[in-house]
Amino acid sequence: MSAGEPVDPTTTAAWARLAGLADAYEADLRGTLTTSWVEKHTLLAGDLHVDLSKNLVDDAVEEALLALADEVDLAGRRQAMFSGERINVTEDRAVLHTALRLPADASLTVDGQDVVPEVHEVLARAYAFADRVRSGGWTGVTGRRIETIVNIGIGGSDLGPVMAYEALEPYRQEGLTCRFISNIDPTDAGQTLSGLDPETTLFIVSSKTFGTLETLTNARLCRAWLLDRLPDGADPEAAVAQHFVAVSTALDKVADFGIDPENAFGFWDWVGGRYSMDSAIGLSLMVAIGPEHFGDMLGGFHAMDEHFRTAPAAANVPLRMGLLNVWYTNFLGAHTHAVLPYAQLLHRFPAYLQQLTMESNGKSVRWDGTPVDHDTGEVFWGEPGTNGQHAFYQLIHQGTRLVPADFIAFARPAYALTDTGPDGQSIDVHELFLANFFAQTKALAFGRTADEVRAEGVAEELVSARTFPGNRPTTSIMAPALTPSVLGQLVALYEHITFVQGAVWGIDSFDQWGVELGKQLAQQLGPAVSGDAAVAAEQDPSTQSLIAYYQENRG
Ligand code: F6P
Repeated sequence: MSAGEPVDPTTTAAWARLAGLADAYEADLRGTLTTSWVEKHTLLAGDLHVDLSKNLVDDAVEEALLALADEVDLAGRRQAMFSGERINVTEDRAVLHTALRLPADASLTVDGQDVVPEVHEVLARAYAFADRVRSGGWTGVTGRRIETIVNIGIGGSDLGPVMAYEALEPYRQEGLTCRFISNIDPTDAGQTLSGLDPETTLFIVSSKTFGTLETLTNARLCRAWLLDRLPDGADPEAAVAQHFVAVSTALDKVADFGIDPENAFGFWDWVGGRYSMDSAIGLSLMVAIGPEHFGDMLGGFHAMDEHFRTAPAAANVPLRMGLLNVWYTNFLGAHTHAVLPYAQLLHRFPAYLQQLTMESNGKSVRWDGTPVDHDTGEVFWGEPGTNGQHAFYQLIHQGTRLVPADFIAFARPAYALTDTGPDGQSIDVHELFLANFFAQTKALAFGRTADEVRAEGVAEELVSARTFPGNRPTTSIMAPALTPSVLGQLVALYEHITFVQGAVWGIDSFDQWGVELGKQLAQQLGPAVSGDAAVAAEQDPSTQSLIAYYQENRG
């Protein structure tokens, strides 16, 4: 199949079988969760220990899901992706983020050219740059050492670097800080630049297209901020050359902006923005954690790629997790999927996953343009535990909606702290934290029956309010520690889960036409917002009224 005709999954025998199984399905995790079931549903992928046992499936459902993968030729499409076929049909592009993490001695020929040497050539230049900044060899125009890196980018040119910068905080070099400007809300640039010393600040303009309004506007704001504040006598051209570097696939536009092409790091149209944190788009992270750790992260990505590419279906974690999401979305009526890291350092991971999953699989037509007649991408969301427990877990435990959830935790803490309890006992706070992690998936799976509540002596009129139905599905992912490699494995895991779902649905998970209309309309509306009455008058009544409100209240 590769990039040929997509299969309408609803026409497959497996889909019909799954529909029948869903009708008859009665969740009973209390009955299902035997030792052998748990053993069978505990999989290893690299350093990730993945417990699928608390999902709402039985043997027949699992067999039918794997059959569905066969009927849509998921393995063929996976092979097409890894080998560089143009599976991003609507943009006529290969999808090769996996090539970004191939080892230097691998080779992958696309359109007659081995892409691996190019990838490693850019990586080597980026690493050399990172080393110069880290060692103080790269200075600002007045000769002072760089202390702050400001990454200017949005979407895939922001979310991955920020998420990983936060996640890998223990690996950062002291004395070097990264900040990130993404939003065109001037508050973002205003707040981020506040208090910075221009002489010690380096800007990385990160934009695949180098045409994104937010990023170019913010880059110009930052350039003006720099030139206004450097000491008198600093040559503007030299200042931009020393304080601005760029990461883009459009190196001609980088030069037009005034950034020395020597200080630009390229990548390729076969890397989607939301799949680009392991390309030079990760430059801010490379500077922060250093080439060695960045290389470890790439190694983690590659390990998960190899797992996805080669593990047999039954043991293939991204495949199994992607198929579970299809089951919940298309057969059990789930609309959302929660990702709940029990790791404060992963506090931006859900936001990162929102772009990865929702920009990829929020589609209503297949890659040949035919409409789908089933649901596609779920709403991904989440917050770190235990904060979420005191906010929205109520709905997951006792609400009317089915919310499949992934729980992520690490055996070793980033910060090991001991509390002295009220009786003077010593409490390992990470263990307290993990106890919550274990407790939540247990509570969600098994709930608390009315009889159990009664047995606790609860008054009869409160029994129903205090009953937990259970059978709320979760997947638990654990790893020894949140290292660069483990982070790479986690991100690649979700990339491939996203791929699996898109492949089953027959959609193009690598385009994002849905973001274009709003961009075009914003351009058209700009003059109306600035007071052009004729353009305002052309708008629909609601938009006219909102712009009028702004005009009256702008102060
Ligand atoms: O508008 C959506 C989008 O194209 C994302 O896919 C992308 O990550 C983001 O904008 C930023 O694009 P660029 O890196 O080209 O500035």
